[in-house]
Amino acid sequence: MDSFAINLANWDERAPAHARSADYGLAKFAADPGHLSEVVRFDQPRLGDIAGLRGVHLQCHIGTDTVSLARLGARMTGLDFSPAAVAEAARLAEAAGVTADFVQSDLYAAADVLPNEAYDLVFTGIGALCWLPDIRRWAAVVARLLKPGGRLFLREGHPMLWALHEDTADGLRVAYPYFETPEPLVSDEPGTYVDADREFTHTVSHSWNHGLGELVTALLAEGLRITMLVEHDSVPWKALDQGMVEDERGEWRLAEHRERVPLTYTLQAVKE
Ligand SMILES: C[S@@+](CC[C@H](N)C(=O)[O-])C[C@H]1O[C@@H](n2cnc3c(N)ncnc32)[C@H](O)[C@@H]1O
Repeated sequence: MDSFAINLANWDERAPAHARSADYGLAKFAADPGHLSEVVRFDQPRLGDIAGLRGVHLQCHIGTDTVSLARLGARMTGLDFSPAAVAEAARLAEAAGVTADFVQSDLYAAADVLPNEAYDLVFTGIGALCWLPDIRRWAAVVARLLKPGGRLFLREGHPMLWALHEDTADGLRVAYPYFETPEPLVSDEPGTYVDADREFTHTVSHSWNHGLGELVTALLAEGLRITMLVEHDSVPWKALDQGMVEDERGEWRLAEHRERVPLTYTLQAVKE
């Protein structure tokens, strides 16, 4: 199987388990019409007012952030390559009483299945870019989707975090590539990043890192102007096996020396 098929099988199996996991908290969206995902709540000060914007959420997974952005007034479409994820996202929107569209597609085909130069906002991240082998092809898709004057909002795991070994018992250790490589990093993990009620059979996944400079260069090459680049000392999932503490926002930080390494970043860019 190629990387695409391997990752699709992996995500199709995980999406329903994620939808049932208390960590994603889907029931809260139906119970409280004002409920927003922790990710979007964290983003809000940098997102600003998005009411009335036409937005697309790339690699939307089970739709928690897509629904949250719709609740902030954007007209949202979510896109993901996993049929199981898209089905869960549509179910969540319906249960939450939110209008949003969901489209199943490979990210690299997004600008072939969605209208071009149509979106005020492209929103993505939080474990999205690492599944894509080529950051330049991703940037080209973002540029095709955005209207002139439209903006990309990306909060993502920092390439420095992806380069660290998860086992931090003996301290932080750079163990994986920081730069994009032609060959994927192959992982074989029986579990997932949230508490799940089942064992998985599709345990292998293929991922790629993309350095911050590679990302910025790819966006500049597509005619986007970088308007924000903020590095954060927290991440919304428990990214390292030891030495992390969770704060009241659901963000995880290094328990000690959190000034040593960035864990996520927010990048915004506008199509000229
Ligand atoms: C970690 S999840 C994103 C998480 C999301 N930010 C959230 O917490 O809801 C990554 C998503 O990327 C999707 N994905 C991976 N490779 C893809 C591709 N080539 N095209 C489209 N979606 C892809 C997966 O199906 C999965 O839903």
